[in-house]
Amino acid sequence: MTRRNQTIVSEFLLLGLPIEPGQQNLFYLLFLAMYLITVLGNLLIIFLIQLDSNLHTPMYLFLSNLSFSDICFSSVTIPKLLQNLLSQVPSIPYADCLTQMYFFLFFSDLESFLLVAMAYDRYVAICFPLHYTTIMSPKFCLFLVVLSWVLTTFHAMLHTLLMARLWFCEDNVIPHFFCDMSALLKLACSDTQVNELVILIMGGLILVIPFLLILMSYARIVSSILRVPSARGICKAFSTCGSHLSVVSLFYGTVIGLYLCPSSNNSAVKETVMAMMYTVVTPMLNPFIYSLRNRDMKGALGKVFSKKKIPLYI
Ligand SMILES: *[C@@H]1O[C@H](CO)[C@@H](O)[C@H](O)[C@H]1NC(C)=O
Repeated sequence: MTRRNQTIVSEFLLLGLPIEPGQQNLFYLLFLAMYLITVLGNLLIIFLIQLDSNLHTPMYLFLSNLSFSDICFSSVTIPKLLQNLLSQVPSIPYADCLTQMYFFLFFSDLESFLLVAMAYDRYVAICFPLHYTTIMSPKFCLFLVVLSWVLTTFHAMLHTLLMARLWFCEDNVIPHFFCDMSALLKLACSDTQVNELVILIMGGLILVIPFLLILMSYARIVSSILRVPSARGICKAFSTCGSHLSVVSLFYGTVIGLYLCPSSNNSAVKETVMAMMYTVVTPMLNPFIYSLRNRDMKGALGKVFSKKKIPLYI
């Protein structure tokens, strides 16, 4: 290999948002508000679930895990984005960039696995109500959570190590608001065939299979409800499944669209907006869609605020 240009990139420029210079402050406030809503909303859910022993059931423990993952997921990208909106040179050192990529992959996979666990939990609860407590035992739930962490560590590590092999020479401008794997691959000077192959295979396994599992769970739920139709049951099931499915589709739809079907006519703006959807919007909506509409959560919230003193030593 001839290396005429020996300069090796030590930092990248994140030219993230396609916005006019004058709008920086407006977007700063917008993203700051969204970030605060995400963190506070999800913290509230974790807090309520920990506090109320009626909510120590598999569904709520998964939800609490999802909230934790949402907080971490948005903290991987948004604080750096906020910092860059204010600075003149939106740079990020090479090592930070890989670290951000690792945690981004880690928490997006974790989110994806937890959504599967939650869909499975609802499937067992609705289709096998009598066996629910034996199937979803605390041990099994813990197993699902630990399995998610192990798989996601492996997957994120694999992509990060493959990325660390690559050599970046001249171009260091990332047309994105975080160190996105596919944007980094486009800048690499070395051969990226192996990386692309691994993205395709692992992306297929890690995104498409969970998505199909979720769709299958909800399809079974809907068909089991339609078999014994009662107006109230149908209404309740469709409102629950409908809102879960809308989050799931928003998350998987944009991720699959971006990574598995990257078409060359996707403009940078379109990709950024799609990435915004699942990095900023879904973590913010999850708490509202999964829980704050829910009667048990509202009950727990009411209990906390009606008591003067919260017994923290339960
Ligand atoms: C995550 O789920 C596990 C298993 O259900 C549970 O023991 C744990 O408390 C949950 N973690 C959080 C942060 O809610």
